[in-house]
Amino acid sequence: MQTVTVPLGERSYDVRIGKGILSRTGQHAAALGGARAAAVITDDQVAPLYLQTVTGSLQAAGLQTFSRVLPHGEQTKSLSSLSSLYAFLAESGIQRSDLIIALGGGVIGDLAGFAAATWLRGIRLIQLPTSLLAQVDSSVGGKVAVDMPFGKNMVGAFHQPSLVLCDPTVLDTLPETFWRDGLGEVVKYGCIMDEPLFSLLEEQAASGRPGIMQVMDTVLSSCIQDKADVVARDEHDTGLRMILNFGHTLGHAIETCQHYEGLTHGCAVAVGMQIITELSEARSLTEPGTAARLRRLLEQLSLPHTLPPIQESLLLQAMQMDKKNLNASLHLVILERIGTSHLLHSDPGFFAGMTQAS
Ligand code: GLY
Repeated sequence: MQTVTVPLGERSYDVRIGKGILSRTGQHAAALGGARAAAVITDDQVAPLYLQTVTGSLQAAGLQTFSRVLPHGEQTKSLSSLSSLYAFLAESGIQRSDLIIALGGGVIGDLAGFAAATWLRGIRLIQLPTSLLAQVDSSVGGKVAVDMPFGKNMVGAFHQPSLVLCDPTVLDTLPETFWRDGLGEVVKYGCIMDEPLFSLLEEQAASGRPGIMQVMDTVLSSCIQDKADVVARDEHDTGLRMILNFGHTLGHAIETCQHYEGLTHGCAVAVGMQIITELSEARSLTEPGTAARLRRLLEQLSLPHTLPPIQESLLLQAMQMDKKNLNASLHLVILERIGTSHLLHSDPGFFAGMTQAS
């Protein structure tokens, strides 16, 4: 088992990574102390695979368990699901000293996390991420939220988990779409702050998914350590943490223009990373050859790196809306070279001509 600690003073917590760790959830949860019961929240794709393992382990460790299975998919990340969860927590008699356990991907982690942030003004949360994206990104760092009709993640909180258990064996059953979705975020860490991780991916990529799976323990611990370092220095996302948004400005615009029915988040981010690096290299902000190196890796990993057929004006409009809704100014993440990045205050005009660049 490897452990990465997210150092946040009294709210520090461990991310423990190990094959089969899900079946030991009970002993890790019980060691937190003080809980009588655990409410496990999951979805209908994950429940048949892992719910029994998790609840069995919790019961064996002396915890009373209650579970709630929600429909899978982004639509579940809503205020109405949240409201149904509050009813479930009330019926189950979940008290302030008890635990909420999020068993699933990013949707379940964000939704159950927001329930934990708000139930009885906040109770402890354990994240059991079952997708690559949730393992390397969303389960760590405390961002929890629900979507609103006017935007994704518009209502939420920072609520750090008390523990994250990351089991690489769950990735064996991960459908290819979700695999690629997570890989986009893995490449992101290599680009922004971790050249050795990027090189490792380059070495393994020729052997495809089995090649990456061979080094998955290292991949997970590297990404999680990178995220822990960033979160420890900027928990509330006012500065450094924004580098985690590399490729996301254009990525979000692609997702919006495709009404969230086209490229997955991680694949849209992959395109966003490639295009901004081509543009920044053309403006001498990035070491020559960086964009070509990134494109080679994305190709080897079967990740997209060119824009889907969307009018440039629509993409720029989507970025402008995002900027208006969410930020006074646009912070772009620019690579100096693979492994080193910085923030650049700019505007959507930076992307003008992008459809020619790709
Ligand atoms: N997913 C980006 C962050 O946690 O800040």
